[in-house]
Amino acid sequence: MMVHVVDHPLVRHKLGLLRRDDVSTKNFREVANEVARLLTYEATKDLETETMTVQGWAGPVEVEEIKGKKITVVPILRAGLGMLDGVLDMVPGVKVSVVGIFRNEETLEPVRYYVKLAGNIEERLALILDPMLATGGTLSHTIDLLKEAGCTNIRGLFLVAAPEGIARIEKDHPDVHIYTAAIDEKLNEAGYIIPGLGDAGDKIFG
Ligand code: PRP
Repeated sequence: MMVHVVDHPLVRHKLGLLRRDDVSTKNFREVANEVARLLTYEATKDLETETMTVQGWAGPVEVEEIKGKKITVVPILRAGLGMLDGVLDMVPGVKVSVVGIFRNEETLEPVRYYVKLAGNIEERLALILDPMLATGGTLSHTIDLLKEAGCTNIRGLFLVAAPEGIARIEKDHPDVHIYTAAIDEKLNEAGYIIPGLGDAGDKIFG
């Protein structure tokens, strides 16, 4: 598995805003989407383009176009919705697949309650969205269900990731690439990322 830490001054600055305990719901929503745009920029860096000739103001001009690559973005409910608008700003034509999973706060095991995947998912690059990769249970389960549906090209976009979650995905799904704004220190005994963001779902939805 490849872990890509999107290390950029804008990302570091914005992540600092998200980490503040006094961040308002409005600011958290805005800034999470701003970071999501920057993660999308990195996670789509290797998309292939093809050249074509179009009519420009001064005559024919060669331009590039993304080569028929189909994408689906996969926000994990709830908190993944907090990144969706930012990602769609960058890739507006994509299909959205929705996966509903919450983590049982006692066992930390993922509980799936909703799945609606885009058509022809086996032809698509899937970009999973979730602000947090903690134990990795939620992500591993989501990747399992995407693979069961025939998806072979899967990437995950996160605001923060814990080393424990990265290790879990490395073991379960070594073919999946992770894009994160930061790798934090550890999980606490309750399974929260330290220093992390707190409960991103609560910060987005109130
Ligand atoms: C959080 C987060 C991830 C999951 C990460 O969701 O958004 O989906 O926990 O934990 P894991 O890596 O240990 O599985 P939560 O269960 O709080 O649900 P919510 O988004 O509905 O608030």
